Amino acid sequence: MSAHRPVGHNAPVVALSLIRRLVPVPVRARLRRWRAGSPDPRGLRVAYRALPGLPIGGYDATGNTHGTHLNESGDIRELDEYIRTFDPELEQNLAGVRDTLGLLHRQVAPLVSPEASLLDVGCGIGRFASLLRRPGSPSARWQYTGVERTDAIVTACRRLHPGDLFLSTGGSPTIPVPDRSADVVLASSMLQYTGDAWLTALADMARVTRQLIAVTRLPLLEQTPSTHCEQTVRYAGREETHWLLFLSRRDFEAGVASLGLRILASEPGTEAMPTTGLRENVSTHAYLLGPREMD
Ligand SMILES: C[S@@+](CC[C@H](N)C(=O)[O-])C[C@H]1O[C@@H](n2cnc3c(N)ncnc32)[C@H](O)[C@@H]1O
Repeated sequence: MSAHRPVGHNAPVVALSLIRRLVPVPVRARLRRWRAGSPDPRGLRVAYRALPGLPIGGYDATGNTHGTHLNESGDIRELDEYIRTFDPELEQNLAGVRDTLGLLHRQVAPLVSPEASLLDVGCGIGRFASLLRRPGSPSARWQYTGVERTDAIVTACRRLHPGDLFLSTGGSPTIPVPDRSADVVLASSMLQYTGDAWLTALADMARVTRQLIAVTRLPLLEQTPSTHCEQTVRYAGREETHWLLFLSRRDFEAGVASLGLRILASEPGTEAMPTTGLRENVSTHAYLLGPREMD
């Protein structure tokens, strides 16, 4: 027997549905497309522009400051503001986070011990420290170390994740750990920000890993040669510009081979990066790399 509901109970829903019907179909479709493509549930708006003529070395390839989230001086007030826009469920459902966790859980976890050590190079605010440890996940017992390029960001990471280890490169291109220190090296949305130094950065990851390198959230070009790009991030009324390199798949995979690494798995990512000045749609990819001797 269905429960009797007072007539007024559904009134707002009925009214909304009537109002929706008054909106012409093409406008409704445009709204749906806008919502589906809306940049980020936290309100970050990111735009990309190709700069094909930019001379190599014409910019500071490591000048990224992790969007508007943390400025060069590690302004904690700004960081707090950024963190407040997050909640763990939202984080878990961000496209890039899902892509990275997906590769780590599907492809990496079966190959490593349940207590594997993971070095997260370019860890940003260190969000994978807690995301990897979620109860029930195959990475729940992994030992996490985050690496960032300034002491300020590292100080902020330590404050956000007090139980975890974070190391600063101090701006050096070298990861501050000995050779073969970690079972897995993760570079999530990081390699493209090293610009023309990407192959050197990847070689250093090969130096410090014992087993695997996971390169995730990597934008790749299928039909266009590798291209320098400008990224504009707008958040909370502020705007920042960063430089990055969109590698062609051919250049990336040739670079991997030149380092004696092998592609163990590759997956399409789900982040789209519409870029002004490029004819193709740019999207991200995830790669699992290992040494050739694993053949
Ligand atoms: C877009 S953020 C990605 C953060 C995080 N990995 C994620 O997926 O959410 C890129 C980060 O890489 C860092 N980065 C860039 N070059 C680096 C380098 N050579 N060594 C360490 N970190 C670097 C930047 O400071 C920035 O925080």
